[in-house]
Amino acid sequence: MSNTLAIIKPDAVQSGKAGKILSHLEASGFTVKALQMTRISAVQAGAFYAVHRERPFFDSLVSFMTSGVVIPMVLEAEDAVAKLRGVIGATDPAEADQGTVRQLFAESKERNAIHASDSDDNAAAEIAFFFSEHQRLGL
Ligand code: CMP
Repeated sequence: MSNTLAIIKPDAVQSGKAGKILSHLEASGFTVKALQMTRISAVQAGAFYAVHRERPFFDSLVSFMTSGVVIPMVLEAEDAVAKLRGVIGATDPAEADQGTVRQLFAESKERNAIHASDSDDNAAAEIAFFFSEHQRLGL
């Protein structure tokens, strides 16, 4: 078993889809190990998405991710990183496979409902970004 980080993004929280997304993730075989509702600052969002700093959509992405509540969570499954990326679908909901979280719940390429870590190393770093050492003790 391994862990990954998912974030239900502000578009999905604001439109009342968080519960359905959580159900979908559990039905897909993930165990929710830790979860919080929080807001992030522009500095935090910029640090989280530092790899995209030079992209034309960076400022808009930071603005979106700071526009409302986000729900970061630690999900456990066998091969959790790859499994979650399959379950959420392509970045652009128009290109996401039928039945994936983004096909079902996302609005657009930016407002795409959910984030998922893209490697085990990034999962560990992203889990530490949102959850304290104390909160990570039980993982
Ligand atoms: P995420 O998987 O969290 O990783 C980076 C985010 O940037 C992505 O989801 C989208 O929210 C956003 N993003 C990626 N590409 C684009 C794009 N071409 N235009 C707007 N937003 C994008």
